Amino acid sequence: MDRIFHEWQDQNAAEFGRQPLLLKHRLHQSDLFSDDKLAQLIEATPRDRYHVNTTPHDETNPRAWREGDLGGLSGRQVLQSIYHGNIWVHLKRVQETDGAFAGLLDTIFEELHARVPGFKSYKRSMSVLISSPRLNVAYHADVPGQSLWQVRGQKRVWIYPAQAPYLPQTAIEKIVRKTAKDTDLVYQPSYDAGARILDLTPGMMATWPLNCPHRVVNADCVNVSFTTEHWTDELRAHYVVNYANALLRDLVGDRPLARSTSGPGYLARLALAGAHKTLMPEPKQAKRMTIDFRVDPEAPEGFRTIAPVQIGA
Ligand SMILES: [Fe+2]
Repeated sequence: MDRIFHEWQDQNAAEFGRQPLLLKHRLHQSDLFSDDKLAQLIEATPRDRYHVNTTPHDETNPRAWREGDLGGLSGRQVLQSIYHGNIWVHLKRVQETDGAFAGLLDTIFEELHARVPGFKSYKRSMSVLISSPRLNVAYHADVPGQSLWQVRGQKRVWIYPAQAPYLPQTAIEKIVRKTAKDTDLVYQPSYDAGARILDLTPGMMATWPLNCPHRVVNADCVNVSFTTEHWTDELRAHYVVNYANALLRDLVGDRPLARSTSGPGYLARLALAGAHKTLMPEPKQAKRMTIDFRVDPEAPEGFRTIAPVQIGA
């Protein structure tokens, strides 16, 4: 069972998904993350399965996070741009791009299922993140269960409680309903007093409770990391409540709404969310994005600005 994690502590099983947690893993030794392999993965990734982003090193506004394009460069050219620039390349759903990552993802969660009693995950996904020295990832909240695995380099992660003021109820409802982006949260520097700070070095993995807002700053070195996402019945129930409450907001405004994941109120929300998802298409803007830079290994920051253009469905 010790293929992925080592030095696992007995209390880690009870803490998993309940509080910010730092675990030790062996995957930084995997050859899946060599430069050759990363270059191949970049070249095999279709446009709808990656993001390339940038934001100034000292920017605190999550909405300043810019989207760009790899512009048909080779994998090696993209790596070169990342290594000396200020960009982050996020390769999504790598398990669909390369079977080796699909196998790794299954192995990770098989071991977690064996280690955490009652934990049964599904709809799992993996993203590879390759990012420049000192890169700054804006304050945001993710919808599925999340873990962040460090392979190369060093980064600091600030993890905030999944409650107001860090995460207003109406904000997570909009993110779940996809009427707002995950970076549409408002960040205040004063929130840092309530954050748990975790420093990740190769062989460390951080995980945290559902929807906890977080932000990340790389140390002055190239970072290779990956995220795993998962769902469980419990996480799904919270998703349903947030989705249904987003729909009820038209009737009740900003009033607090029940968030129970059992009983008649939950069953009514389950029916409402199910009916809405069946009858109503996803908001179109959720599938579109505006790009305003192109990666360029010759440019000082690894990219050049272009006229904004909207892409996507
Ligand atoms: Fe995240």
